[in-house]
Amino acid sequence: MRVLVTGGTGYIGSTAVDILLEQGYEISILDDCSTGHADTAPAGVSFIQGSLLNSGDLAQALVGVDAVMHFAGKSLVGESVEKPDLYHQVNVDGTRNLLDEMHKSGVKKLVFSSSAATYGEPEQVPILESAPTKPTNPYGATKLAIDQMITAESAARGIAAASLRYFNVAGALKSKRGWLAERHNPETHLIPNVLRSTEENPVKIFGTDWPTADGTCVRDYVHVVDLIDAHIKALETLTAGVHEIYNLGSGDGYSVREVVAAASKAAGHQIPTIDSPRRAGDPAVLIADINKAKSKLGWVPTRGIEDMVADTLAAFS
Ligand code: UFG
Repeated sequence: MRVLVTGGTGYIGSTAVDILLEQGYEISILDDCSTGHADTAPAGVSFIQGSLLNSGDLAQALVGVDAVMHFAGKSLVGESVEKPDLYHQVNVDGTRNLLDEMHKSGVKKLVFSSSAATYGEPEQVPILESAPTKPTNPYGATKLAIDQMITAESAARGIAAASLRYFNVAGALKSKRGWLAERHNPETHLIPNVLRSTEENPVKIFGTDWPTADGTCVRDYVHVVDLIDAHIKALETLTAGVHEIYNLGSGDGYSVREVVAAASKAAGHQIPTIDSPRRAGDPAVLIADINKAKSKLGWVPTRGIEDMVADTLAAFS
């Protein structure tokens, strides 16, 4: 089976490319490399440096393809607040183009990178897929709009689709070509920032007065390798005319201080931190209910927070 991986040079997409190749899939990549890195594309793999907004690029990328894993998109909450038009254009219009070109090319299978940001501030945790969707920022709103578009596309044109709502993705994959890890600029994610913390420039703890056990935000971290395993299971269980939505997390929550403690243990020294004001738009607690992915996909995440910090640390070393 040939899989088109959009966003295949980004952190999560490049990990998917590597694992899919290892498992015998054929791969095509479409990425504009606006945030990805062309150097992650393995030699010999069909790689089009092009845009979701360009129908010609999409048509070319879809040649000979049986299914699409759609990772390409803008993914920073803060940036989406400043540039909602950019997020709508790349994420929503870009996915609309992709669906249209898939239709023209007769490609009927899609696995999409959605987000827990579609839920917004949860009324209950753990969060079920049936929870209300009230995104609190333009990023989450674009992911929800895409999920709804895919539901409609599936009903109208019979595509087989799954939206995977990621919680906090972390960790790294050691591929034959070296570590594939987060290389964001600027880096906003907690684990990379904790591991790069220094006495001169300590990682900020955004809020110490949240209504949680230690006053810091709680998140559900999932290892990127477990995450891609769920994508492949979702791909292999797609059903024509059906759009499934699955939460992907670990089902457990860790506070910011607990993440710092795990990272300090892995690093072998106390990581310096500085208590700072809350970051705008952060909910206090986000934890996934992952029972649907467990029961319908037969998926079980096997790597814990210790693996995520250890792998990221090794990748950065
Ligand atoms: N945090 C800090 N200091 C930092 C960075 C983060 O204290 O330097 C805190 C945040 O306030 C938050 C937690 O660490 O409480 C995790 O923050 P991240 O930025 O790593 O991740 P988010 O939970 O904000 O967002 C992630 C993805 C989003 C996605 C969301 C869904 O980056 O794309 O999960 O749950 F929408």
